[in-house]
Amino acid sequence: MKLLRRSEWALLAFILVYSSVPTVGGLIRVLELAGGPTIAPPNPRALADPLPITVHILTSFVFCLAGALQFLPSIKRQHPAVHRINGRVVAIAGCMSAATGLWMTHDYTFPAGLQGSLLYWVRIVLGSSMMVLIVWAVIAIRSRDRFRHTASILRAYAIGQGASTQTVMGIAWIVFAGSEATGPVRDAIMVSAWILNLAVAEILIRRLPKPGTRRTGSARQRSVIDRAKGTV
Ligand code: HEM
Repeated sequence: MKLLRRSEWALLAFILVYSSVPTVGGLIRVLELAGGPTIAPPNPRALADPLPITVHILTSFVFCLAGALQFLPSIKRQHPAVHRINGRVVAIAGCMSAATGLWMTHDYTFPAGLQGSLLYWVRIVLGSSMMVLIVWAVIAIRSRDRFRHTASILRAYAIGQGASTQTVMGIAWIVFAGSEATGPVRDAIMVSAWILNLAVAEILIRRLPKPGTRRTGSARQRSVIDRAKGTV
């Protein structure tokens, strides 16, 4: 029996590559804070108060990478214990990532060019929402509500993965404008990345099987049936 279908390998590879954009940069920062070489652009806030950023980077790394496994149907179906145990790790890591994100948002002293009031408030709202959504997803699966569970965790994951979309959009801005975005433009890029991710999550949630609709057969059989019905 194959562990994953080809489309699942492709999805996993896409999420891992996409997540690696901020997570690898973050690990370089953690090495620097542990006394290693200075490779990343300077972050005086991290040097002044390394605890929250170190916990943030490590837990965000686990949330993004281990979280990717949770979306693979083959793992859910064939290895439910792996899904359950990994899910607990992902839930704890996600809550710690969001909590430390909130901690830094509130306690770090940012120059105005790096965090205006728009970004401050959006970080506060979305960081808190990410924690609530993860807790909600756990409560939902304990009451066997798979739809709410998947919808909540997809929204939380979209908020977490905002970091990847923000990095990609920030790099695209440098390519087009020739310099790094700062001030209101930077705030707008950061917020737009989150809006984009949440819009994608809502599209995916609309495609989830609705509660009460029972789907039987393998994914391959269902896809053949769907095609025959003209529903895909
Ligand atoms: C779960 C996915 C996330 C990843 C992969 C991630 C990644 C990172 C990384 C790598 C850094 C360090 C930047 C540096 O070295 O200068 C960082 C910092 C930070 N993150 Fe996140 N993050 C995530 C989620 C969040 C969320 C949801 C919030 C919102 C509350 C947030 C708020 C922050 C803040 C305020 C900083 C400090 C930025 C600075 O000092 O310039 N992060 N994040």
